[in-house]
Amino acid sequence: MEIIRAPNYEDLSKKAAIIIASQLIQKPQSVLGLATGGTPEGLYMEIVKLAENGTISFAQVQSFNLDEYYGLAASHPQSYHSYMQKHLFSKVDIKQENIHFPDGMASDMQMFCNCYEQAMGNAGGIDLQILGIGHNGHIGFNEPANCFSASTHLVSLAESTIAANSRYFDSSADMPRKAITMGIGTIMRAKRILLIASASKRAAVERMLYGPVTPKFPASILQYHTNVQVIYYG
Ligand code: GLP
Repeated sequence: MEIIRAPNYEDLSKKAAIIIASQLIQKPQSVLGLATGGTPEGLYMEIVKLAENGTISFAQVQSFNLDEYYGLAASHPQSYHSYMQKHLFSKVDIKQENIHFPDGMASDMQMFCNCYEQAMGNAGGIDLQILGIGHNGHIGFNEPANCFSASTHLVSLAESTIAANSRYFDSSADMPRKAITMGIGTIMRAKRILLIASASKRAAVERMLYGPVTPKFPASILQYHTNVQVIYYG
């Protein structure tokens, strides 16, 4: 793993944006795995600037988002789909047909998850996967468990995740209790991974980097990936 310590959030966002930009410059038809949450907002802001000044283009990019709340339509204001439209997709030249998202409303969840995995495979696999991290070590919505998950699946969210993410909803009762997420196997198949974490995640980042590799702390599996960059501050 390459560990980069940034002096502050702005610098972290800029460094992460440069890594994505260099990926797109080297391979304009890259397949990106994208993350949501508070942490990547600054990164997307920097990426939009680079797209607006013509440094990068999303015209040939395909994107696959990590996760989505179960039971929320794409149009729901708190869906991760809406988040991506707001922070990135509506501001860059990505083609709508190249945007792939877990469907929180899929009627046959197993079939949807299989198709999502197949679509990633058909696109050639993820070239660069962006990740955040939860305090409990979750990546995507892969919560602490007894074993690592192989592929995209439906999960029940941990109480700590519900508590952390309820802030985005009118009340905790409105926060979905389940989500669809790429599995740990899906994430590990990405050719390259960039994980970003802000100051409040310092303990989680240190446990991920130096603790034992265990499904009880899912992000620890990244110690076994051969091409991971971690940018954090704090
Ligand atoms: C959510 C997302 C994760 C993200 C995590 C951290 O639970 N499913 O993909 O990494 O939040 O979010 P934040 O950056 O808001 O702390």
